[in-house]
Amino acid sequence: MLRFEGVRKTLGRVEALRGLSLHVEQGEVFGLLGPNGAGKSTTMSIACGLLAPDEGLARINGANPRDAEARRSIGLCAQDLALYGKLTARENLGFFAKAAGVPGRSIRRRVDELLDLIGLTDRAGDRVDRYSGGMKRRLNFAVALVHDPELVLLDEPTVGVDPHSRTAIFELVERVRAGGKTVVYTTHYMEEAQRLCDRVGIIDHGRLLEVGTVPELVKRRGGRTVVTIERGEGNERIETTTPIAVLAAHIHDADATGVRVDVPDLESVFLSLTGRELRDGGD
Ligand SMILES: Nc1ncnc2c1ncn2[C@@H]1O[C@H](COP(=O)(O)OP(=O)(O)OP(=O)(O)O)[C@@H](O)[C@H]1O
Ligand SMILES: [Mg+2]
Repeated sequence: MLRFEGVRKTLGRVEALRGLSLHVEQGEVFGLLGPNGAGKSTTMSIACGLLAPDEGLARINGANPRDAEARRSIGLCAQDLALYGKLTARENLGFFAKAAGVPGRSIRRRVDELLDLIGLTDRAGDRVDRYSGGMKRRLNFAVALVHDPELVLLDEPTVGVDPHSRTAIFELVERVRAGGKTVVYTTHYMEEAQRLCDRVGIIDHGRLLEVGTVPELVKRRGGRTVVTIERGEGNERIETTTPIAVLAAHIHDADATGVRVDVPDLESVFLSLTGRELRDGGD
């Protein structure tokens, strides 16, 4: 569905992508997980044809994403909100549907469907600059869907949203997937990648470092489970592949005041690949 081979892109004086290769299969939710400045948005801009690679190849179903035909099969939910504040939600969706080439007679029905999908039917006539951050994010998501694209690119769609809207956005992703679409989802929250994505690519400094399902990545790169036995005089740290056996061996340990088990996750995968923590972002 989406294929990058050795894509390089310099923006200003920054080498944003340094030979990025990526394969996204039809019908999957692919997560691009990486800290600030990793190159996620640049990847999305190339995938939807807004930017061209300096070197390397980007293809959507075998076509150049800059070709008009290919662009019609892509919907981008941009990281920076792309909405008209002075227009209502209904007017925004109508405008973007028209711009995306949705036939005039279908626009009203499509807009109604989308308003229902994002739960904004009741507020559809209000100006968008009166919306909460979460409502704007949901509308921004709907804009990506106006022309019913095959490939939906979601660039950090949950930034700055309340928990209710975050859950609503997760449900939207599930609905889009259930409709047979392909989704690329960028985030720097490992919980989102873990929860939503069939496969995850770890991106840092413009390169894809690893790719796989979350259990594959954790097995390959997550390291071992750490059992910490807490004692008055100090903690004992035990790295193990058999944490239950370690716990069983300490069951009669009278000095132990507590125990902590740290199971490897995407955070440990990122740490082992880069030596840095994902949640702290940047360099
Ligand atoms: N228009 C530009 N001019 C110069 N440098 C840019 C431009 N756009 C991006 N960059 C730089 O390219 C690198 C990659 O940026 P990009 O926006 O792709 O990262 P990102 O992974 O999306 O980060 P974030 O999580 O902050 O959104 C960064 O170092 C960024 O500062
Ligand atoms: Mg970005």
